Order: sequence, then structure tokens, then C-alpha cells
Amino acid sequence: MKPRILVTRATFPEVIERLRERFDVEDNQKDDTPWRGEELRRRLEDKDGVLSTGSDRIDAAVLDGAPRLKAVCNVAVGYNNIDLAACGERGVLATNTPEVLDDTTADTAWALLMAAARRITEAERWLRAGNWKEGWTYDRLLGQDVHHATLGIIGMGRIGQAMARRAQGFSMRVLYHNRRRAPKAVEKKLGARYASLDKLLRESDFVSLNLPYSPQAHHLIGARELALMKPTAVIVNAARGGIIDDAALVQALKERRVFAAGLDVFEGEPRFNPGFLELDNVALIPHIGSATRATRMKMNLLAVKNLTSALSGRRPPNLLNPEAWPKRKP
Ligand code: GLV
Repeated sequence: MKPRILVTRATFPEVIERLRERFDVEDNQKDDTPWRGEELRRRLEDKDGVLSTGSDRIDAAVLDGAPRLKAVCNVAVGYNNIDLAACGERGVLATNTPEVLDDTTADTAWALLMAAARRITEAERWLRAGNWKEGWTYDRLLGQDVHHATLGIIGMGRIGQAMARRAQGFSMRVLYHNRRRAPKAVEKKLGARYASLDKLLRESDFVSLNLPYSPQAHHLIGARELALMKPTAVIVNAARGGIIDDAALVQALKERRVFAAGLDVFEGEPRFNPGFLELDNVALIPHIGSATRATRMKMNLLAVKNLTSALSGRRPPNLLNPEAWPKRKP
């Protein structure tokens, strides 16, 4: 008998084919509607493993309905959708897909940074709306220079470091804030200087959020923090919704207390604060940070590797809760 697995969201057909070689697979290829609460619980009842995404809430209630479940393997680097402690207590191994998406996600954050600074999405809307009547004018859609400006990176993990590497090509000064200070050698290589959160917010022309979501990071950037930023500054979030207080950001953007924002993620997505739609000074994209075919394929294959390892009794390469390992189910 092959182990039974659930693939919660649609994915590349070749990934499903590969999984079928080893597992009895229930997939969501046709519908791709996220399964929530009771429905997810019911579908996991008889499963040994799950290939999950950020849209699946794997909590204690879901785990309690899945006595055979051995592994929850996220196709994502973020894992705030999984209750790690609840997994750990029940001997369920949890994994994510780090590294393979670092550069792609930093590219997206950089695209947002450039778009917000130079008003690219606003300019395109203006052009498409038929507003371009006169040729060149000296003051049309004036933005902020990116080159030689100061970039403040909040969260200096792998993606934050990829942002710092990009900043070098733009001759930028780089400040960073992180729970732990990076080793001197890393700071030197990236030309990045550690700063307190408030100093970073006061001095940066661009603020990029590159930290994982956690309860401690909830509304890390709220009204107080936005008030510290320069009125010419741009803020970019390609990390997670909820790190910024979106209502406070809408207000700050509306009152031009910050110049612009570039957002890939939102509180409560796929719903988001409707106030953003009324503003020109925000570039909005729908959580596509890692969305290239090559990277999404790498993430899938890494998650498959994690799942295959876990269900064959091997320690998965990206185990998030090592305390679950001694308690793992046979
Ligand atoms: C996407 O949001 C991820 O965490 O990989």
C-alpha cells in the first residue's frame, strides 16, 4: 500500500505525476479552491502526508482529525500557516522551501521598489486612460531617485541579503535591522550597517520588509513607525501581510506622509484594505514574490523531497520542528 497524501492546491501536472509514482494522491487540480476548516480536516483524516501552501491553516484542530499524519510540507518559505508547536507535540514533521526562492523574491521586491519610486504603475494607468495629450513635460510624474539613496532592510536573512546585494549595483547606502546582528564578515561583504529600527526608519529613503511573519512582527510598522519615515520615502513589503498595519499605511499614503509603497502582500489577503485602490502612490501586486516557472518548480520539487524523506523515515532536509523528530510516527 502506498502512503496517502493530500496536495491541497493545484500545481504543475508533472509534480502530481511524480508524486503518484510513490503515493496515493488526492489533489485539487480541477477546482483549486482552498479547503478550509472542517473540509481540510475531513480530507486529511486518512492521510499520511500533506503538500500544503500558505493558504492552508494547519492548526491543532486539523491535526487532531488526522491521526496518521506524519508530515506537513509547505510549498513556501513562510510557514505562519502551520502551528509548529501543535505539530511538534503530535510528532508531525513540518517543512518549508527556503533558499530556492531568495533571488526571485528579492527581484520582485526590487521591482516594487523601482515601480513605487518612479511611479511606473501610476504612469501606465495614466497613459492607458488616454491622458497623454502633450508630448514631453518637465514635471510629469516626478519620482524619487533609487541610485545613491539609502536602503533600510528590515530582516537580514537570505532574502534581505539578496536585497543588499542588489543595492550595491545601485550605489546605495545600506542599513539593516534584524533580531540578531549579522556577523561582521557578512556586514562587510554586503556593505550594510546595523541600525535600530527607529534610526533605520528615520534615515532610509527606501524601507524593505524581508522578515517572516510572527506574532512579534504583527504591525511592526504602524502609525508611529510610519511617522518616523521621511515624506520622500518608499516602503516595500514582499514578506507577509500583517507586518504592516495596512489601515495606518493607507492613511500615511493618503496624507503624503510617505511618498509611496510597493506591496505584494496584505493583511487578510486575498481581501485587502479598499483604501489602497483609491491611491495613486502605491504599486499593488497579488502575492507573486516567487512566481516564476523555474522557481515555483524548484519549490515544488523541494517540498516533494521533504515529503518523500519524511514518509520514508528519513529526516527531511528542511525540517522546521526538530523536536518532532524523536516523536515521529512510524
Ligand atoms: C510565499 O509567500 C512563501 O512564503 O514562499
